[in-house]
Amino acid sequence: MPRLSQWAVRAAFIYLLLGFTVGVLLLAHKGLPLHPALWRWLLAHIEFLLFGWVVQLTMGMAFWILPRYWQRSRRSKPGYAFIAFILLNLGIWLVVAGTTFRAGAWVVLAGRLVEVGAVLLFALHTWKRIISREGA
Ligand code: HEM
Repeated sequence: MPRLSQWAVRAAFIYLLLGFTVGVLLLAHKGLPLHPALWRWLLAHIEFLLFGWVVQLTMGMAFWILPRYWQRSRRSKPGYAFIAFILLNLGIWLVVAGTTFRAGAWVVLAGRLVEVGAVLLFALHTWKRIISREGA
């Protein structure tokens, strides 16, 4: 498994743990109020689980499993995927800072743009690796 996939899968599991922890607290809070500010963590819960876990695990596994070479020539630029990994994680924390920690709407917007950048770069990296056994 390539190094980038190892980082992405490990990071994804950390987000799963964070997201579930927040989810459990929110669920408990519905029955037994814990703290009035807890609902602000709902967006962090969603961010951690959808982008941190689902998207990141998918990217990590795709980077590992898709064909890298066809007739000895490399099908993609791995640098794009590395940048996508950094952008995705930066975007997640910008969105969490902007929502849960109230850093402002511009921070949320910046986070979303960075996340879109991550997805686009990853798609650009992956496109040529989507091939059959025959290379078509
Ligand atoms: C991959 C797993 C999960 C994903 C993608 C996910 C995603 C979401 C999303 C999108 C919402 C917002 C729903 C809405 O506003 O209508 C939400 C709400 C919530 N989630 Fe999760 N969730 C996951 C797992 C969990 C787990 C394991 C728990 C608790 C054990 C949990 C507890 C909650 C609670 C308490 C809410 C608030 C519900 C409400 O508005 O009353 N979630 N989750």
